[in-house]
Amino acid sequence: MSETFDAAWLELRESVDHRSRAVPILDPLLGWWTARGASSVLDLGSGTGSNLRYLAPKLPGQQRWTVLDHDAGLLRRARSTSPAVTVHPVVRDLAGVGLTEVKGTDLVTASALLDLVSEAWLDGLVDACVASRCGALFALTYDGTIGWSRDAEDPFDLRIRDAVNEHQRRDKGLGPARGPDAAPVAEEFFRARGYSTWLRPSPWSLGPSDAALSRALIAGWVVAAVEMLPAEAAELRAWGARRAASAESPTFTLTVGHWDLLALPPTAASSRS
Ligand SMILES: C[S@@+](CC[C@H](N)C(=O)[O-])C[C@H]1O[C@@H](n2cnc3c(N)ncnc32)[C@H](O)[C@@H]1O
Repeated sequence: MSETFDAAWLELRESVDHRSRAVPILDPLLGWWTARGASSVLDLGSGTGSNLRYLAPKLPGQQRWTVLDHDAGLLRRARSTSPAVTVHPVVRDLAGVGLTEVKGTDLVTASALLDLVSEAWLDGLVDACVASRCGALFALTYDGTIGWSRDAEDPFDLRIRDAVNEHQRRDKGLGPARGPDAAPVAEEFFRARGYSTWLRPSPWSLGPSDAALSRALIAGWVVAAVEMLPAEAAELRAWGARRAASAESPTFTLTVGHWDLLALPPTAASSRS
C-alpha cells in the first residue's frame, strides 16, 4: 500500500526540517561537488520541493534538478526561485522504473524518504548510484527515537513509540520498510562498495512555538499506534489528548531523532570522518 502525504503536513514540517539538518556534512559535499564540476541533482520523493529549497542555494553554479514523485499534485509546487537552477518534474513511482533517472546524475538526494523503503529497494538504489559513480545525500531519515520533557514523562510514551516504530516497518509501497534502521543500513551498503560516508544526527528539537507540528505528529502517532494496538485504542487516544494539551506549555520539549547521510564515491573523498 503506497503512502500518501498532504501538502499541509509537508509545509508544517519544512522550516523545522531545514533548521534540523546536519550542517557539517555540507563541507565534504561542497568540496566534492566543486572538484567534480557537478551540476545535476536527482531528488527522489520530492513532495513540494523542500529539499530543493534547502539545498539548491547551498550548491554553487548552474544546477539542473530532476524532482521525482508519484504525486503530481505535490510536485506542481516544486519550483525554483533562482535563474541558476532549472527544475524538471518527473511524475513516477519509485517502485517501478523510478531509479532509471539515477543514470547520468551527479548527486542523488532525498529528504524524509529513506525510512519508507525496503532493504532490497535500498540495495538497488545504492547499486544504481555506484554504477553512475554519483554522490548521495539522504536527509532526515527517522531513527526511532522520541524524547519528551523530562519533567513530564507519561507512562504511555514508550508504548506509543514502540507501536509507531513497528508501524514504520510496514510496507509503504516499496516493500517492508526498514523504518528507523534505514540510514545505518544505507551507510553500510555504501561503505561496502567503497564509498566514504558521513552519518550525522539531524533531530527535530521542538518547543512550545512548534505546537502545531507537535500536535500533528501526536495525532499521526495515535492513528499509527491504534492500528497496531486496536485493543488499547481508548488509552492511546487519551495519551494523545494529554500530550496535545501540553504542547504549548512553556516547558514543553519534544525530540524526534533523524539521520542525515552523505555518501561520496571512492575517488572523490578518500577518508571517512
Ligand atoms: C515524507 S514525504 C517527503 C517529501 C519531501 N522530500 C520533503 O522533505 O518534504 C515522502 C515523499 O515521498 C513520496 N513517495 C512515497 N512513496 C513513493 C513512491 N513509491 N514513488 C514516488 N514517490 C513516493 C511521497 O509522495 C512524498 O512526497
